[in-house]
Amino acid sequence: MGDEKPAAETKERAQSDRPIQRVGVIGAGQMGNGIAHAVALGGFDVALNDLSKEKYDAAMETIEKNLERQVNSGKISQEEMDKAQGRITFAESYSDFADADLVIEAATEEETVKRKIFVALCPYLKPEAIVGTNTSSISITRLAAATDRPERFIGLHFMNPVPVMELVEVIRGIATEDVTFGRAKEFVSTLGKTIAVSEDFPAFMVNRILLPMINEAVYTLYEGVGSVDAIDTAMRLGAHHPMGPLQLADFIGLDTCLSIMQVLYEGLADSKYRPCPLLVKYVEAGWLGRKSNRGFYDYRGETPMPTR
Ligand SMILES: NC(=O)c1ccc[n+]([C@@H]2O[C@H](COP(=O)([O-])OP(=O)(O)OC[C@H]3O[C@@H](n4cnc5c(N)ncnc54)[C@H](O)[C@@H]3O)[C@@H](O)[C@H]2O)c1
Repeated sequence: MGDEKPAAETKERAQSDRPIQRVGVIGAGQMGNGIAHAVALGGFDVALNDLSKEKYDAAMETIEKNLERQVNSGKISQEEMDKAQGRITFAESYSDFADADLVIEAATEEETVKRKIFVALCPYLKPEAIVGTNTSSISITRLAAATDRPERFIGLHFMNPVPVMELVEVIRGIATEDVTFGRAKEFVSTLGKTIAVSEDFPAFMVNRILLPMINEAVYTLYEGVGSVDAIDTAMRLGAHHPMGPLQLADFIGLDTCLSIMQVLYEGLADSKYRPCPLLVKYVEAGWLGRKSNRGFYDYRGETPMPTR
């Protein structure tokens, strides 16, 4: 009894005993800012990197808005919001990750982009630092091979929007060590998320099931079976999906949807995963969904308007 610590001190000590304390995030887009938000709320220091300071500033604005929403709905206190914001800093270069225990890559879903990041990043990291990727579909084993530490590399697939969604898929590459797997799982649990472990197959579990459904919705539109509104209404009211598949595609980002379908098509060599030509056309037009203000819906007015 005599040497029992007061609760606050015990919590602080538990925090300083955590093998992961400082986290880096690369890519401050919709996923990167969501990850930074959730990780900072979890009590970790976060260094957030993107191609420019403007992208970081835009991410911080989004984080502020989303934290405010959580305060207003009583999910967190104003003090927790202030602390979380104070824990996030701009990482102008990879040298700002020198003391990071974990760096999570959340840049554009293109293998060449991600490989280049890992090659440039690794020389700046502590030898024991873990590298995670938020890829939606690309082989963890192949990405790990672009690093100097495949045994300390892991897939951490957060869901969108990160502060709201409960699940993180955790994926080991062929070389991922047990200790890395254990630390990654502990880290994810600390964030209050639930883990689903997936084998390293193209698009893992959630997107292996979800994206072919979205692609089929685009084919349904392409073949004139129904309009954007009819397809989304059908799936919302007929299958009780919280969002129609085309609305969801806009939310994910059509470029990301196309990349995932390409990974499935090439990785599983099955024609059932062929990306719909209409999806390809929208991406070629730069109509990427919400993030570019136009996709299957046009978001430039007061209310989203279906484009077909
Ligand atoms: N959108 C989703 O619903 C979703 C869900 C889970 C996982 N993901 C995955 O998360 C990752 C990011 O997706 P997103 O939706 O946030 O995309 P996004 O387009 O919103 O953001 C990507 C960000 O990466 C930045 N970037 C590109 N190259 C970079 C580089 N070399 N260094 C630093 N930053 C760079 C871009 O400037 C951009 O800000 C992808 O791998 C995607 O598959 C997306």
